[in-house]
Amino acid sequence: MNKDIQSIVLTEQQIKEKVVAAAAWLDKRYAGKNPLFISVLKGSVMFFCDLVRAMETPVQMDFMMVSSYGAGTSSSGIPKIVMDLAEDVTGRDVVLVEDIVDSGYTLQRMQNLIAGRGAASFTTVALFDKPSRRKVDVKADYACFEIGDEFIVGYGLDYAQQYRNLPYVGILKREIYENK
Ligand code: IMP
Ligand code: MG
Repeated sequence: MNKDIQSIVLTEQQIKEKVVAAAAWLDKRYAGKNPLFISVLKGSVMFFCDLVRAMETPVQMDFMMVSSYGAGTSSSGIPKIVMDLAEDVTGRDVVLVEDIVDSGYTLQRMQNLIAGRGAASFTTVALFDKPSRRKVDVKADYACFEIGDEFIVGYGLDYAQQYRNLPYVGILKREIYENK
């Protein structure tokens, strides 16, 4: 295990099981449709790739990069669109794939943006939900795993752009980000 990790929240095997269950939920919902799946970069990249590969429904993919943090561990409240979508979402059944819904600012911003561009429908799938940290009233339609007020890294999730390539998800030791 990485020396900066306090404990493991999800092992590779547990992640796999959660991803398969989420894919089955999506297959049921989108059978016979042509959904556009959007990965909110960078955090959702691992989850997104595994999720779409576990699905049977053909999906189209697009990417958007949103940043809200700088190098801290809580949202600045103003998510910045660093890279916009390539596809037109007008009339599309959009599935937003997020790593974590924390304060909810990012999800709210994405919801408004995609609804404003005339999507036919909008569904959010998140790997993690931290309901106790919510600042705005938004909810993922499907969350694989609920977590308390802990800062986690791995499987796409970072602290100051590090730890994204860990194959598991773990709680980061407090000493790594406190007094920084
Ligand atoms: P929100 O806008 O506060 O809901 O935060 C959303 C984004 O913050 C997520 O997409 C993550 O990239 C990041 N984030 C929130 N909690 C964590 C965490 O525990 N570890 C790593 N990134 C996190
Ligand atoms: Mg992040």
